[in-house]
Amino acid sequence: MIASNASPGFKELPLRILHLEDSRLDHELVSRELAKGGTPFVIERVETLPEFVSVTSQRTFDIVLADFRLPGFTALDAWNAISSHSPHLPFILLSGAIGEAAAVNAIQAGVSDYLHKDELSKLWRVILRALEVSQVKVAEEKANRELKLSEKRLAQFAEHLQSTIENERADIAREIHDDIGGALAAVKLDLAWLSRHTTASEARGHIDTAQEMLQHALGASQRIMMNLRPAILDQGLYPALQWLVRNFEKRTGIHSTMAINHEALKLERAVELAAYRTTQEALTNISKHADCTAVRIELSDAEGVLTIEVSDNGKGISNPDREKPKAFGLRGLQERAKSVGGWLDISSTPGKGTSIILSVPLAGNTPQHEEEQFQ
Ligand SMILES: Nc1ncnc2c1ncn2[C@@H]1O[C@H](COP(=O)(O)OP(=O)(O)O)[C@@H](O)[C@H]1O
Ligand SMILES: [Mg+2]
Repeated sequence: MIASNASPGFKELPLRILHLEDSRLDHELVSRELAKGGTPFVIERVETLPEFVSVTSQRTFDIVLADFRLPGFTALDAWNAISSHSPHLPFILLSGAIGEAAAVNAIQAGVSDYLHKDELSKLWRVILRALEVSQVKVAEEKANRELKLSEKRLAQFAEHLQSTIENERADIAREIHDDIGGALAAVKLDLAWLSRHTTASEARGHIDTAQEMLQHALGASQRIMMNLRPAILDQGLYPALQWLVRNFEKRTGIHSTMAINHEALKLERAVELAAYRTTQEALTNISKHADCTAVRIELSDAEGVLTIEVSDNGKGISNPDREKPKAFGLRGLQERAKSVGGWLDISSTPGKGTSIILSVPLAGNTPQHEEEQFQ
């Protein structure tokens, strides 16, 4: 049967209605009531469970109206038969009295609504509401799927960017080593030769200054290379972190302690690099922003999780600090942690310091204890 009046404006029309009903008379009543409404529709009646399953698997409907008790089965059996593949198909119980418990059960099972056959005048309202709810759910699921996809793409992009940056850094470090380092080493030899063969005091003064400058340039290129590609990581994460912390303390004068609880696990290069870069950025942040007097680094690979916590007793990170649009240090660390299957926690109380904690799950191991102090 097809009836046509005004449309609700949010569905493709005519609305395709499936009516699960064993009474032809009741079906006629429902069809007549629907025809009074303002929306074009087609309605089809089925009365057995196999018929219902077959029709719903072959064709698409916009809504199901179902009598509750039918010969040999109930509307819940019908709903259970289709709910896994059509979880958002609006399914309305249109029945005589079914009792409160059955109604609650049905709604809990995911049925959209229940309307008593004596209240047919409300049928369109109930249908439109069920359609709207289902559309919102479908849209929500679609938005969630798209959000997940775009988060995944962003993470992949961040990972790609991260490895590109590391490769570029390694290339630049190599070039500094080969070109600048090579040239400086040659200049050093020549200056040493000149120094041995020059007696004129004016020239010697210049040679001494040049040697000093050269020493400075050699030190700077070493430092830049180390920052670009921490060669010390080749000796393992722990020596590399010790080196980093020792240098930090020497440069800033901030009292730094390092507690290690580990079994010298062989870590993946990417995990080592993430741990090293996290500590490096946390220490850089401390020297730039924290205004603190003490730093503590705790490193553990107990219970199969590598954790590195860098804490200071400085001024803490305020909420506006975290939202700074152009600050990418901490955000970059968060992405980096994700790219190695871990996560980053930032905990901070204004006036009471900051802790940055990187956690990366690893294979299981048994811990041992050491405590080190750098002064
Ligand atoms: N240890 C810290 N103590 C106090 N403030 C911090 C600390 N680390 C970060 N911050 C604050 O959080 C902001 C964001 O840090 P970050 O993302 O590394 O960006 P950037 O260092 O480039 O400013 C910093 O600008 C600073 O205000
Ligand atoms: Mg920073």
